[in-house]
Amino acid sequence: MNNKLLFLREFLKNPGQVSSIIPSSRFLEQRIVHWSEMRSAKTVVELGAGVGGTTQAFLNALPPDAKLLSIEINPQFCTLLRQIEDDRLIVHCGGAQELQDTLAQHHLPAPEAVVSGIPFSKIGRDTGSSIIKAIASALVVGGRFVAYQVSDQVAELARPLLGTPARAGLELLNIPPLRLYRWEKSAA
Ligand SMILES: C[S@@+](CC[C@H](N)C(=O)[O-])C[C@H]1O[C@@H](n2cnc3c(N)ncnc32)[C@H](O)[C@@H]1O
Repeated sequence: MNNKLLFLREFLKNPGQVSSIIPSSRFLEQRIVHWSEMRSAKTVVELGAGVGGTTQAFLNALPPDAKLLSIEINPQFCTLLRQIEDDRLIVHCGGAQELQDTLAQHHLPAPEAVVSGIPFSKIGRDTGSSIIKAIASALVVGGRFVAYQVSDQVAELARPLLGTPARAGLELLNIPPLRLYRWEKSAA
């Protein structure tokens, strides 16, 4: 089945988890690459990889010696992600809440960037807060967290641990138009 059709089918089955009817546009992908400074990063985590369009765009931008850990909760999407042939990619099928255990399981250091399309406004406050907590703990000092979202709920959830975003914007060339946020982890 075509990737876009699979994405739509999974959205119809579980709209709260998948959240969009089609994968992110190439304009949004490039904004995320730029905002997360992926071209110079060595360890990057992607939360909510979907059918792999964003994953492939990130691999295209990452240096040859980088590692990309892509975490996805939907098993159908995981099967597709595992078909991407790239030694730099590690696909983990599971919840983003377990980010720290997952990094340890794959012997990865603290990431310089975490990017997330997980729909924080739809997954429930407790789950959202535990994902933000895991991101804030996992990031290296100076590391970036970039979220692309329909709603501003993520900014409210992140405020206690990461403060106000260093940068916020809107990508209109995406269906639907999405908000982007960037936080930088400061020394405690
Ligand atoms: C809006 S889609 C983004 C997909 C892809 N990154 C893109 O931009 O086209 C959100 C993705 O997050 C995944 N997701 C939702 N909750 C999750 C969780 N707790 N842990 C990991 N992935 C999750 C969904 O299955 C879905 O693939």
